[in-house]
Amino acid sequence: MNLENKAVIITGGASGIGLAAVQLFLAHGAKVAVVDINKQLGYKLVEQTNNDNLLFIHADITNESECEQAVGKATSHFGDLDVLINNAGIEIVSPVHEMSLLDWNNILHVNLTGVFLMSKYALKHMITKQKGSIINTGSVGGLVAWPDIPAYNATKGGVIQLSKSMAVDYAKYQIRVNCIAPGIIDTPLNEKSFMENHSESLEEVKKEKAKVNPLLRLGKPEEIANVMLFLASDLSSYMTGSVVTVDGGYTAR
Ligand SMILES: NC(=O)c1ccc[n+]([C@@H]2O[C@H](COP(=O)([O-])OP(=O)(O)OC[C@H]3O[C@@H](n4cnc5c(N)ncnc54)[C@H](O)[C@@H]3O)[C@@H](O)[C@H]2O)c1
Repeated sequence: MNLENKAVIITGGASGIGLAAVQLFLAHGAKVAVVDINKQLGYKLVEQTNNDNLLFIHADITNESECEQAVGKATSHFGDLDVLINNAGIEIVSPVHEMSLLDWNNILHVNLTGVFLMSKYALKHMITKQKGSIINTGSVGGLVAWPDIPAYNATKGGVIQLSKSMAVDYAKYQIRVNCIAPGIIDTPLNEKSFMENHSESLEEVKKEKAKVNPLLRLGKPEEIANVMLFLASDLSSYMTGSVVTVDGGYTAR
């Protein structure tokens, strides 16, 4: 899975799954632009990684002009854009009847509108080059309902359908679009929902949550990054419009 000199944008690359992807893609020779709202983590990553193939771009994926600028910066810095990984996301724990419109709009904007905006500007470049791979991080929450996070589940269902639609529309330009649906992965994202209605320690709750998976453990961010690498590489050249579950067997039962 050689990505030597391929130019890649990873949104949400400063933490969790995105961070694991950044490290893996750099190790496979890619040039990586991390687009993230968290400046502190982004600059820390650049400092610790100390690699000319890594660029941090501070941007909010809900803001159209920031997305346009981020794609422009990454493309001119690396001279090309081969892969976009729409991975940034948030989770808000709230049942529908208690959710504010502000929270609803916020999660919709980050998890779904952000994928649309980054894709919009990346596609403009990919169409002219007649090549590209877009990988969206969905969730098994877009396939089956996880409790307590209805808005999150709804946005991920939207990401899955947007991925399939873009796959169909841009195949004629040799642009592939695929979606990964992770199960429960051990990252900071779901700590709040883990602790909902629990008084035990976070580690104890994680052990409990792991039991819902046939593999009886939570996933590691690297295990999602590995699939991103495969979908970015030519080894997956006949895959487009696919939804790949990586969930320890959660949706198999
Ligand atoms: N952790 C899980 O169990 C799990 C399961 C299924 C899907 N996912 C999905 O995986 C993706 C990554 O999640 P994670 O678990 O690594 O979470 P994380 O919280 O560790 O990382 C998310 C990153 O996105 C960034 N981000 C948030 N809002 C942003 C914005 N408006 N603009 C730019 N960057 C922004 C954050 O700063 C952070 O660096 C998300 O889309 C999430 O929904 C996670």
